[in-house]
Amino acid sequence: MKKKLVILSGAGISAESGIKTFRDAGGLWEGHNVMDVASPEGWNKNMALVLDFYNKRRQQLFEVEPNKAHTITAELETDFDVTIVTQNVDDLHERAGSTKVVHLHGELLKARSVLNDHGVIEWRRDINPGDLHPDGYQLRPHIVWFGEAVPAIEDAIGIVEEADCLIIIGTSMQVYPAAGLIDFAKSTTPIYYIDPNPASIPNLRNPLEVFQLSASAGMEIIKAKLKEIEF
Ligand code: OAD
Repeated sequence: MKKKLVILSGAGISAESGIKTFRDAGGLWEGHNVMDVASPEGWNKNMALVLDFYNKRRQQLFEVEPNKAHTITAELETDFDVTIVTQNVDDLHERAGSTKVVHLHGELLKARSVLNDHGVIEWRRDINPGDLHPDGYQLRPHIVWFGEAVPAIEDAIGIVEEADCLIIIGTSMQVYPAAGLIDFAKSTTPIYYIDPNPASIPNLRNPLEVFQLSASAGMEIIKAKLKEIEF
C-alpha cells in the first residue's frame, strides 16, 4: 500500500507563479484592509468592493500557471497516496494534476448564494451586484471569510491524523484553524516545512525539518529525500 503523504500548502506555493501572498512585504493585506474585503461585515458594508477584490483575484488566475512546486507535488502521486490540504483559493494544484485537494478557505472558481452555504456552483466570470444564484439570491464568492466557519476542517483533521508524512509549504502558520492542523498528526509522523521565512512552531512533538527555501527548490530536495527515507 502506498504511504500517505499530506501536503499543507499556503500562499507561498503559488508565489513563484506570480500570485501575491497575504502577509509578505507588498502582499495582499498590505494594500487592503482585511476586514473590508474578507469578512461578512465588509460584505454588508460594501458588497461592490468585496466583489471587485475577488474578481481581480479570479481574473489573475487565467494569467498564471502552476509552478515546479505544484508539478512535483502532483508527480508524487505516482509513488504515494497524496492528499493536499490547501489554504489557497486558486486552482493551481488541480491544474498541475493533483487529484485530491481539500480547499480549506474556498475556491475562486466557485460561487454560492448569500442565502446559505449549500448549492455551490462553478463560476469563472466576474460576480457583479445583481448576479443571482439559481435560488434567486445574490451570488457571493465561495470563500471562507474571517469570522466564518471552516466547513472542510473536519475532513482535513481526519486526513492529517492518517498521514505518514506531512509537508508544509509556504504558509505563515498564522491563521486558525488551518495552522492548528499539525497538532493532529501522529507524534511519530515526520514533518517537513518549506518556507523562505519559516514561522516558529512551538510545542511540536514530531520530528521536524525546516527547509528555508522557495517552494520549488524545497520540493526538489524533498522529492529526492522521499525516495530514501523509511517512514
Ligand atoms: P501568508 O501570506 O500569511 O504567508 C505566506 C508564506 O509564504 C510566508 O511564510 C512566506 O515566507 C512564504 N513564501 C513567500 N514566498 C515563497 C516562496 N517562493 N516559496 C515558499 N514560500 C514562500 O499566507 P498563508 O499562510 O497562506 O485566508 O495565509 C493564510 C490565510 O490568510 C490565507 O488563506 C488567507 C489569508 O488571510 C483567507 O483569506 C480566509
